Amino acid sequence: MAQNKDIPEILPTHAAFIMDGNGRWAKKRGLPRTAGHREGAKTLKKLIRDLDDIGIKYATFYAFSTENWKRSDEEVSALMKLLEENLDDLVNYKNENVRLRFIGGRERLSDVLQKKMNDAEEESRTRTGMTVTLAINYGGRDDIVHAARKAAELIKDGFIKPEDLTEELFGSLLMTEDIPDVDLLIRTGGEQRISNFLNWQLSYAELYITDALWCDFDRKELIKALEDFAGRNRRYGDAK
Ligand code: IPE
Ligand code: IPE
Ligand code: MG
Repeated sequence: MAQNKDIPEILPTHAAFIMDGNGRWAKKRGLPRTAGHREGAKTLKKLIRDLDDIGIKYATFYAFSTENWKRSDEEVSALMKLLEENLDDLVNYKNENVRLRFIGGRERLSDVLQKKMNDAEEESRTRTGMTVTLAINYGGRDDIVHAARKAAELIKDGFIKPEDLTEELFGSLLMTEDIPDVDLLIRTGGEQRISNFLNWQLSYAELYITDALWCDFDRKELIKALEDFAGRNRRYGDAK
């Protein structure tokens, strides 16, 4: 077990991560961008252990956005292959009791990857530890449009009236379904933007942006972010 003295008392229930900077990490070393992604996958696996150890209940990771298809075929297929390879390791974290879920459109993904994702969800469904969600081909706007379509179907089929559609009900139609809203968003690589990640679910998240590149993000960097979060005054519009 880790040295848990370093853990702040107030923790986010749900921490989300924009894992950015792999390309820059590789470039600094004169390596191809894909080498950065390979290293980034290692960071992800290590960090899941740390988050579990620290006691975070929900962790969501942005692995591939709906906009990332714009990258070269070579980079896209390397990213997809890495996802395929690493899903096995993630599911085999049996002792950690981690439940795996995925958000994002699956149609455009390979049959192999889709099958691995379905199997991973199935195999880990009854685990009671931390819920890890990977966002693959995910876009916050796409998520909202899908939820709006579902709501329209419910109204059309007479299950609800337009006035029954509350924020709570709409939230349950999003890809995150029963996962609580994000408390802390961590973005590595220094860019000060959301990049179409969890637009609805981030409404009252505390934002933490670090210049550290994803490949260099470790337990020490995580603890720094958690300490910063613990000191925030979350007013939710109140005047306290
Ligand atoms: C990883 O970082 C994010 C993914 C889309 C997988 P990048 O590949 O965007 O790295 P930078 O921002 O170019 O350094
Ligand atoms: C966001 O990073 C997407 C992921 C981390 C998967 P990007 O590198 O794609 O974001 P932009 O292009 O800088 O906004
Ligand atoms: Mg980037």
